[in-house]
Amino acid sequence: MNSWQFGFQDFDPDDEGRREALCTLGNGYFATRGAAPESTADDVHYPGTYIAGCYDRLTTDVADREVEDESLVNMPNWLLLTFRIDDGPWFDLTHVDVLDHEQELDLERAILVRRLRFRDERGRTTRYVQRRFVHMAEQHLAGLDTTLVAEDWSGSVTFRSGIDGHVTNSGVARYRTLNTQHLTDHHSYESTSDTVVLHARTSQSRVRVAEAGRARVFVDGEPVDAERSLIQQNDLIAHSVTVHVERGSEVRVEKIASVHTSRDAASTEPVVEAVDEVRCAPGFDELCRSHALAWSRLHREFHCGLSMSEDAQRSVRLHLFHLLQTISPHSSDLDVGVPARGLHGEAYRGHVFWDELFVLPTLTLRRPLLARSLLMYRYRRLDRARRAAAAAGLPGAMFPWQSGSNGREESQRVHLNPRSGRWLPDRTYLQRHVGIAIAHNIHHYHRATGDDEFLGEFGAEVLLEITRFFAALTHYDRSRDRYVIRGVVGPDEYHTGYPDHERPGIDNNAYTNIMTAWLCRTAAQVLRELPAERRHELIEQLELRHGEVDRWKRIAQRMFVPFHGDGIISQFEGYDRLAELDWDGYRQRYGDIQRLDRILEAEGDDPNRYQASKQADVLMLFYLLSADELAELLGGLGYPMPADTIPNNIQYYLQRTSHGSTLSAVVHAWVLARSRRHQALEFFDHVLAADIHDTQRGTTSEGIHLAAMAGSVDLLQRCFAGIEVLDGALRLNPLWPTELGDLELTIRYRGQPLNITVTGRTATVRTAPGPAQQPITCACGPRTVQLGPGETAHFSLEQHPWKPDSS
Ligand code: BGC
Repeated sequence: MNSWQFGFQDFDPDDEGRREALCTLGNGYFATRGAAPESTADDVHYPGTYIAGCYDRLTTDVADREVEDESLVNMPNWLLLTFRIDDGPWFDLTHVDVLDHEQELDLERAILVRRLRFRDERGRTTRYVQRRFVHMAEQHLAGLDTTLVAEDWSGSVTFRSGIDGHVTNSGVARYRTLNTQHLTDHHSYESTSDTVVLHARTSQSRVRVAEAGRARVFVDGEPVDAERSLIQQNDLIAHSVTVHVERGSEVRVEKIASVHTSRDAASTEPVVEAVDEVRCAPGFDELCRSHALAWSRLHREFHCGLSMSEDAQRSVRLHLFHLLQTISPHSSDLDVGVPARGLHGEAYRGHVFWDELFVLPTLTLRRPLLARSLLMYRYRRLDRARRAAAAAGLPGAMFPWQSGSNGREESQRVHLNPRSGRWLPDRTYLQRHVGIAIAHNIHHYHRATGDDEFLGEFGAEVLLEITRFFAALTHYDRSRDRYVIRGVVGPDEYHTGYPDHERPGIDNNAYTNIMTAWLCRTAAQVLRELPAERRHELIEQLELRHGEVDRWKRIAQRMFVPFHGDGIISQFEGYDRLAELDWDGYRQRYGDIQRLDRILEAEGDDPNRYQASKQADVLMLFYLLSADELAELLGGLGYPMPADTIPNNIQYYLQRTSHGSTLSAVVHAWVLARSRRHQALEFFDHVLAADIHDTQRGTTSEGIHLAAMAGSVDLLQRCFAGIEVLDGALRLNPLWPTELGDLELTIRYRGQPLNITVTGRTATVRTAPGPAQQPITCACGPRTVQLGPGETAHFSLEQHPWKPDSS
């Protein structure tokens, strides 16, 4: 297998969920899990099709209260295709003697291939090959091509090909007690002799979805007018097609499907569009060609080559592949955010968290329009966030911790601990820091792209309203002569309150406080730098008073930051007074303690009692801010930052973190990269392995971890290669781990495609040839050069060698 191939041998029912998620095919508009086409949801299989941004709400009685949940809806299964030989049973992999089984995801052409050879109960040997795609250029189209070879028998084969609308959202075991039936009002019909159609609508959001499937049959390459019958129920429709095959001959069923909804652009009505689309669609092979062509462009734009390690290269390719299947060029026309688990499963119900913080940099440096459209998802929900702030008695915009269709807070208020079986209050919605992430993304997007139009028209307004909210969240504490923030939750979700206290939330989460100071500074600066006319307009529109901006400036100078010990930034006020956890004891007893919160609760204990974090919290500061930026920020607050602050804090929290979120490994690899390279590479390996090896044991089958996937690429580009955009220049500060071989990547900076190669402390930047345009500024160390199209610059920091750490 080369690094463009990812796959599995044999059939392992226990592992099928993970494989389905990892073999999901999608195009940003919709995605379908890599489930076997003959399967329906059961203990092994979970066919799932999800359309970006298609949510629905359902109410359930849970633990004596009514709970309303919004979920990304599992749509009708267009894959449905099965067969039987003569009058034998319908094909079931577990009832035949499997001679060969192989599933290969061709990452280059974006095709999933399944190769099977089996002997049935009557001793007949059959070869079966299936290929499928979800078209990257034609966003509504997908194809499934099935070839069956009768190796040593002759007889009739009946294929059943159709659309199964009998689906629910039941992919995540712990949500199954909730209401799961989102689709209603199913109708189906046969539109032509080879095409079936099924349409339905979501129950509350009333999105109408229509799917059409066209099936054509070929024997030994020739189309045949096979005998067909129609199977029609309200929520399932299929054609049964019977053909005669001679020993050694080959029968092929080519299925082309289309998926449309009432949310689509350029659409009169979804059923009309779905039927039209399959009627006009060419055959499977022709569609494969245009599909591969669309992907080849994306592969060029997102090229990220590691010369040494084929395994690492394959993982990075897989990560980019799933990133682009979730957020694709089609996304810029859709009103969608970054679903934490991709379009690959139902964990977190397809909700949008702060994870775009880890996803945007990879997109911004290649397809800035995509990053912009993800930011527009937030802009469109600004009014909702204003209303949420107002409901909390505060001005400005309070963005929800979990967002879905309209930007309402979608966090669950109770969650199930599968270990204890108990439903528990969930206070993670108090993660107000999501607003800081949105503001940070806006600022960085603007810095990287120079997109003044976006900032002026949309970004600044969001950023100012978020700042207004955070400023109002702070209280002036006279006794300290400092501003404080009480009752929030930081990125570490284990701490949602003080032990034995009724009041939810913790006080003065250092990350939230320091980033609030950053926000107040940044907002004042953004306002200052806006063109005068736009600045005045915004001030007038937002009724921004002088005193308010002055208060931001004061907060940026007098925000409280808790410390303890020798320069340790306390994760929150009182963190140091919590008990120390017996980490070794827990590891010995439980092995995997990533979900320490569930373990402790099941023991009748409470994670709030311990100095134990789920994920990077204080260390997020070193991830988002450079050492200089942080020192300046803390200095401005009157807290000097001695040189050993960063290593001491890393050491302190490293020992107290269970890495129960895949984001944690991304942040730890980042913050260790320049001091303890070996450890950084270990964390980088964890990031690469997170889904591929399902290191959280059982979570990948419920959807990929998109932020970790995108984060792995960002570690290569911005962390190890040290690429950043600052002060109108592309800056490189490579500290490339040669263990990974050389790096070669393409990015786009200020409209100019660049090819960058990096190894050790050297980098070469080549601009693509093209029509003359403004040269770009590239800098590395003390050297700055201007590069026009078709030019090359070599940089070396060899005179600043990296000193290896002792670890
Ligand atoms: C993490 C959050 C993250 C969410 C979605 C949680 O486990 O703690 O930081 O946003 O997953 O990825």
